[in-house]
Amino acid sequence: MDKLLFGTNLKMYKGISETVSFIVQLNNLLADLENEVVPFVFPSYTSLSNAVAVNSQKFILLGAQNMHPEKRGQFTGEISPLMLQEIGLDLVEIGHSERRTQFGETDEEENAKVLSALSHGFRALLCIGETSTQKLNGVSDEVFRTQIKIGLKNVQPEDAERIWIAYEPVWAIGVNGTPASPEYVKEKHAIIREILDTLFPNSRIPVLYGGSVNPDNAESLISLENVDGLFVGRAAWDAEAFNQLIRQTLEVWRRKTNYARV
Ligand code: PGA
Repeated sequence: MDKLLFGTNLKMYKGISETVSFIVQLNNLLADLENEVVPFVFPSYTSLSNAVAVNSQKFILLGAQNMHPEKRGQFTGEISPLMLQEIGLDLVEIGHSERRTQFGETDEEENAKVLSALSHGFRALLCIGETSTQKLNGVSDEVFRTQIKIGLKNVQPEDAERIWIAYEPVWAIGVNGTPASPEYVKEKHAIIREILDTLFPNSRIPVLYGGSVNPDNAESLISLENVDGLFVGRAAWDAEAFNQLIRQTLEVWRRKTNYARV
């Protein structure tokens, strides 16, 4: 069975002590899930070293929420791949909609980050998704195609194994977001799957869904074809809630992937 991918982005919420307590609790709560799940967390930059230090269950992957593509240079306030390597991270999140909409990041910039993350040995989670205006204008599928084609430009087939995609409709994210219906998610994941399979015919790049995932919709979302995992914000920021949501999701995942427990 493919492992369920399930993770959270802590955004600009938890500082060092809260992150440490979150990661310690997850280490205790998720200890029995190693063979079935790949849990992952993106803490704030300032909490990363401490998070790595207490993450004894190495199967819980830790990553940075962003990264500058250059190794070093005159980029005041930025964090380089070498700095993240030194901390010992597994993952880099690239192109979250908050980066794109609030910090003006372009597909070309996301591409530079993807290529840099891969060349420094990280797994790259590239976030894509349409805004409400793009949805209203009926160009969502074109938006995915552009975000994927440019975002993954020049990714070598052998490196595609280290790419994950998170589809997060911008209008579905955060406190003001409207959860997407399972029908909509199903349709869009099928399109994203097709785009990825055309570009990388020899790899199956996993596609996660994110945007207002919660205990009421997680099961129907993960049951959908072409949804390979969930990327959760608010509903997973408490360790107990993360644990309950991952187990609830895993039950459905086992059925979907015909997992026979021995
Ligand atoms: P949300 O956040 O689950 O709180 O909507 C999702 C995200 O920003 O990735």
